[in-house]
Order: sequence, then structure tokens, then C-alpha cells
Amino acid sequence: MKPPFVITVDGPAASGKGTIASRLAADHGVQMLDSGLLYRAVGGLLAAGGKDLDDVEAATAVAEALTVEQLSDPAFRTRAAGELASRVAVHVPVRNALFRLQKAFCLRPEGAVLDGRDMGTVICPEAPAKLFVTARPEVRAERRWKQLTGQGEPVTLEDILEDIRKRDERDGGRAASPMRQADDAVLLDTSEMTIDHAADAARRIVEAARARWERS
Ligand code: DC
Repeated sequence: MKPPFVITVDGPAASGKGTIASRLAADHGVQMLDSGLLYRAVGGLLAAGGKDLDDVEAATAVAEALTVEQLSDPAFRTRAAGELASRVAVHVPVRNALFRLQKAFCLRPEGAVLDGRDMGTVICPEAPAKLFVTARPEVRAERRWKQLTGQGEPVTLEDILEDIRKRDERDGGRAASPMRQADDAVLLDTSEMTIDHAADAARRIVEAARARWERS
């Protein structure tokens, strides 16, 4: 039996993957899972409880108890929460605890869009449409800096670039499910693209995958 039409969108921070994923979900009339938010929530709740980010047992307990309702807290969307997320995401038991929720999403019969680092490689390797969205670190840093200063957060471009490089290294260099382009994912480098241009390019890639999936 053919798998549901699931789209995975992986890539580093500030590559444009979140916007692309939500536009694809709207196009296809399906739900989107922002898996980064799960790790952000685990990191945020752990830190709020005064626990060490390397306390694997405590982090795993938070991940096991996590509910979808807890994800709406805007505190999980800050720059600091991204760093906490990347720190707890290195722990295998934390990743295992979050696996089932993510896998259930990828098995939805109506299809879905999943956004993250290991959606196409680990969570949903059978997905018929896979994208790996990236951009040069300097370009990503500038985008993130504009967004944060626009929201009134006083940060320098250098600090953001440093954050991004550190996060790329940790997310791509960890032993457990490192960020990696799946062999059958299409690479979309958005360095020289506006977000509308990037979303259009993504739409075309997914339409081609959809046509193949329909014929299969
Ligand atoms: O996509 P994001 O910036 O919200 O992700 C925050 C961090 O969570 C990211 O730096 C690494 C981790 N993460 C992960 O390890 N696996 C995922 N599927 C998604 C995010």
C-alpha cells in the first residue's frame, strides 16, 4: 500500500523552512508539525524547573509528559529557547520519547507536513516528498537579526551569526539523528531567494513529487 502524501522539510535554523512548510501545508490542506517546537518545549520546561540541560533523566521525563497543549507558549519561540532546544536534542532518550508523537503525525491518512532536522531521515523516511532547505550562514544570520530587532530584541548581527554557527555544528555534529539531507531529498538553497521565490520553488518540487506519488 502506498504511504500517505507526507512532505518533510528539513534544514538549519533561519533557512526559511518554517515559512515554506506552513505554505505547503496550506496548499495541500493538511496539518503541519513544527518538530523544533517539541525540543524547544522540553528545553524550556526543563530550565523553568531549575534542572540542568544535561540531566538526561529529567529531560526525558519532561519529553514523555509533553502534551500538544503545552506547545503554544510564546516563550518557546525566543532565541534563548532555540539554544535550549539544541542542547536537549542531543540526548537519545529525549529523541526516543518524542518519536511516537512525530511518527503518528507522519502516518495521518490525509497526509501532513513535518518540519525539522531529521524528518526525512529518521521520523518519516518513507515520505514521498522531501526537501532540505538551506542558505549560507551569513544570509540566515541577517534574516534572523532583522526579525529579532524588528521585534525589539537588542541583538547584534555578530552574536546571531555566532549562535547560528554553534547551532549548525551541534545539530549536524551530534551522534543521535544529526541534521542531514536524506538521500532522496531535494536541496533548496534559498541564499539568493526572497521567501516568496523560495516558497514557489518548493511548491514546484512538491508538485513533481505529488505527480509521481499519484502515478505510483
Ligand atoms: O527548528 P528550530 O529552530 O525550532 O529547532 C530548535 C532546535 O531543536 C534545533 O536547533 C535542534 C532541535 N531539533 C532537532 O534536534 N530535531 C528536530 N527534528 C527539530 C529540532
